[in-house]
Amino acid sequence: MKLKSILFASMTIVIFSCSPKVIPTTQNIEKEVKSEVVLTQNQIEGKAIFEANCAKCHKLYEPSSRTPEKWASVLKWMQPKARISDVEREKIYDYVTNGM
Ligand code: HEC
Repeated sequence: MKLKSILFASMTIVIFSCSPKVIPTTQNIEKEVKSEVVLTQNQIEGKAIFEANCAKCHKLYEPSSRTPEKWASVLKWMQPKARISDVEREKIYDYVTNGM
């Protein structure tokens, strides 16, 4: 009887130590797929305008560092400084807010 319970206990350890190894691998694959962001044509152009014009006076601010509302007011404020057109500003907005 004692041998049976030892056997059962070691079987349980084997099962539990093996199973979690499989799960993180599938989760990692899912994460990689989700992080792949597809940009629209406007966003691609916006990114280029952003990188070319918005790091002259200060560091390039992370798109995720501001909410869409904040970006709208910041971009209106920065537009004359960067000397960009309304269309260019809209494209930057599209990029930094990622279509939100
Ligand atoms: C002629 C210089 C100049 C250019 C070009 C410029 N900025 Fe700025 N920017 C400033 C100044 C000055 C400030 C305020 C002080 C600071 O934070 O460095 C500022 C602040 C900011 C801030 C912080 C605002 C806040 O309070 O949250 C953001 C974000 C920003 N700029 C984005 C941009 C973007 C996007 C562009 C391109 C369209 C741009 N800037 C182009 C001068 C510039």
